[in-house]
Amino acid sequence: MIITVQQHLQQQQQEFGSEASGTFSYLLSGITLATKIIEAKIRTAGLGDVLGAFGAENVQGEQQQKLDVYANQVMLHCLGLRDTVAALVSEEDEEPVTFDRSPETGKYIIIFDPLDGSSNIDVNVNVGTIFSIHKRLPAAEGDLDASILQPGTKQVAAGYVVYGPSTVFVYTAGNGVHSFTLDPTIGAFVTTQENMKMPEQGQYYSVNEANASQFPAGYQEYLRQLREGEAGKAYSSRYIGSLVADFHRTLLKGGVFLYPPTAKQPGGKLRLLYEANPLAFIAEQAGGMATNGTGRILEIEPRGIHQRTPFMVGSRFEMETLAKCLEA
Ligand code: AHG
Ligand code: MN
Ligand code: MN
Ligand code: MN
Repeated sequence: MIITVQQHLQQQQQEFGSEASGTFSYLLSGITLATKIIEAKIRTAGLGDVLGAFGAENVQGEQQQKLDVYANQVMLHCLGLRDTVAALVSEEDEEPVTFDRSPETGKYIIIFDPLDGSSNIDVNVNVGTIFSIHKRLPAAEGDLDASILQPGTKQVAAGYVVYGPSTVFVYTAGNGVHSFTLDPTIGAFVTTQENMKMPEQGQYYSVNEANASQFPAGYQEYLRQLREGEAGKAYSSRYIGSLVADFHRTLLKGGVFLYPPTAKQPGGKLRLLYEANPLAFIAEQAGGMATNGTGRILEIEPRGIHQRTPFMVGSRFEMETLAKCLEA
């Protein structure tokens, strides 16, 4: 018998209450609707007019792709209609989009990367959407900005969709990691795996080797150990260049993904609020680890919505081996 995301959330509500409540599932249905619309556009990208550059630069200093802009508009539209949303923060928008809703109505903040892996769109390689959900702080504890800049430990939910050979939705609301596959014949995400666990150790390491000579020495020693089989087994290298796809493989197969500091970006390239935090929440819920090289990603106190961070995430064995190399 199929179980859709909505039915899964109702089960979670009976079991856990709290964020799996009715308003939360209505909110999540805004995300699943948006990702189905994005998926439909990606599936036929070559036939329409969504490939290639949009012709503008975003706040990141990146050349926006047409699909970046399209996915962003879809997310803003679908989520903006949910009256439980107080603010939307996107990689593609310099400032948060806020709604004039009372704290009793506008209870959630949704932070997202509408289209992750933009450099892969035109070559038909997996891309994704990543989201992170915070609850608005009570007025006495902080304003909307403070609600947006909460550390990753305060997320009430996080997830992603990877648009690949199949379209897979993975999320956590703090009670395990669960995955769903889009069944195009019924247009619904159907449960495929509940309570996913990242293997204790994997066989892949995932890093952009072109940057390797720029990494601090501890990372270079770590990669040397993995390559030479000194870390317990012979590793293979896999790097897709779409964070969501590299992460999804690491979640299922184990191993490690690294985007260390480089000379060009000593603070790291990946963004804390809508890339590192949501994936770190999922990794830890699945028994893995996620650090910036010196501490837990989830404990970083954000200073800005587009703040970058070094991001290493993966199985316990590989992450503990990395920590030893960085402490040496
Ligand atoms: P985005 O497309 O949302 O801007 O993210 C791109 C990111 C991430 O998807 C990927 O892991 C990383 O950029 C790849 O960076 P390099 O090309 O520097 O390896
Ligand atoms: Mn981008
Ligand atoms: Mn991204
Ligand atoms: Mn993006």
